[in-house]
Amino acid sequence: MSTASKDQNEQTGQRAMWSSRMAFILAATGSAVGLGNIWKFPYITGENGGGAFVLVYLLCIAVIGIPIMMAEVMIGRSGRKSPISAMRILATRAGRSANWQWVGWMVIASAFIILSFYSVIAGWALSYIGYAASGTFAGASAETIGGIFSSLLADPATLLLWHSLFMLLTIVVVARGVRGGLERAVTLLMPALFVLLLVMVGYAVAAGDFARGFAFLFRPDFSKLTTSAVLTAMGHAFFTLSLGMGAMMAYGSYLPEKVSIAKTAIIVSIMDTVVALLAGLAIFPIVFANGIEASSGPGLVFQSLPLAFGQMPGGALFGTLFFILLVFAAWSSSISLLEPLVEWLEEHRGIDRKIAAIGGGVSIWLLGLVSVFSFNIWSDVKPLSMFKMFEGKTMFDLLDYLTANIMLPLGGLLAALFVGWALSSKSVREALEMEDNMQFKVWYTLVRYVTPVAVLIVFIYNLG
Ligand code: TRP
Repeated sequence: MSTASKDQNEQTGQRAMWSSRMAFILAATGSAVGLGNIWKFPYITGENGGGAFVLVYLLCIAVIGIPIMMAEVMIGRSGRKSPISAMRILATRAGRSANWQWVGWMVIASAFIILSFYSVIAGWALSYIGYAASGTFAGASAETIGGIFSSLLADPATLLLWHSLFMLLTIVVVARGVRGGLERAVTLLMPALFVLLLVMVGYAVAAGDFARGFAFLFRPDFSKLTTSAVLTAMGHAFFTLSLGMGAMMAYGSYLPEKVSIAKTAIIVSIMDTVVALLAGLAIFPIVFANGIEASSGPGLVFQSLPLAFGQMPGGALFGTLFFILLVFAAWSSSISLLEPLVEWLEEHRGIDRKIAAIGGGVSIWLLGLVSVFSFNIWSDVKPLSMFKMFEGKTMFDLLDYLTANIMLPLGGLLAALFVGWALSSKSVREALEMEDNMQFKVWYTLVRYVTPVAVLIVFIYNLG
């Protein structure tokens, strides 16, 4: 996807490709592993009572997430275009309505909204690099660290600064073509993040209330499971695997033939899940040992881990490293949120990639202001509070809810219906290049029946 190889390929009439299967796995894992794993998973698990929620989430990954990831990558690879065009091309090729391209539009809209608040949260992580490096956390109490977090949120100018910086980082990479520098950087940084998470889990074993943290995550208490928790778990399965909005379609459109889509989807999903569970194991023991509320919301990671960094030997170094790596994880995800839009602008409007990245990025940055202000000057603005399900939600909460819990599952549902019902099973099977008949049948049943029914049931329960 680098611009250089793209130009060359355009001359020869060929499309740029990932250099190898490994490159695709890394890019897709880079997209999947991000704030969703380390920031969002722990805090929504805390808000939704732990074990039972985690179990539903794991189930959604296996039964809905993996099959849909395969479907999305397949759509991208067969269409070889941006999500909008790929859907249109495949639909017309199969003799179906070109209206399927509207799914492509919806997914691009979701990506737009998600990136607008994603960048604000990534900005928190950016600012925490400085706190960690300057030793602010050393020996600090839970109250002091909570205070640091609330004063950051209370200060719109600072939030804006970090949000702008993060958006700039995202634009730069997408403008240069995703394969340029970041693909190589991620090769190194992802394993580093993994190792650092293991170190943090080690610390949590030594100094936290590990038994309680472990039980909280893995001992399901179904009395705590509400229907809205099931919706959140399902929505998060989409969010964390980067599904339902075209990122995997866009990445799949650069995937060479003869790479097993099933295997790669499974590998990516497993790595993503392991990172989320490790983050949970690192955070909850510290949360419980220090009397932090597990249900304290979006600030959970930013209030628990700094406490650990403030107490452990070498904490300033580990803390700095951790937040740097978190920013990189967010960065490799954010580029996948901007890529589908830029790919489309390039393809359709013939807009230069650089201009498309800047134009798209600046518009998203603007929408990001809504989230920035949701934490301070607009923290009392709760526009949809008259509806029970949106009660008490700020505009940031609403954007998050609307995308993760509604638009992503809807995007995934439509992708499943498209692959399962609009395309012929023969063409789908060829596109997946799946040799094993049994495996294909399992996948096809999941995509045709299980996924759509599951998503619909969860929707109906929550709206009704
Ligand atoms: N999966 C990423 C995370 O967990 C976020 C993300 C990147 C995403 N691309 C996406 C979410 C596409 C939904 C759709 O942080």
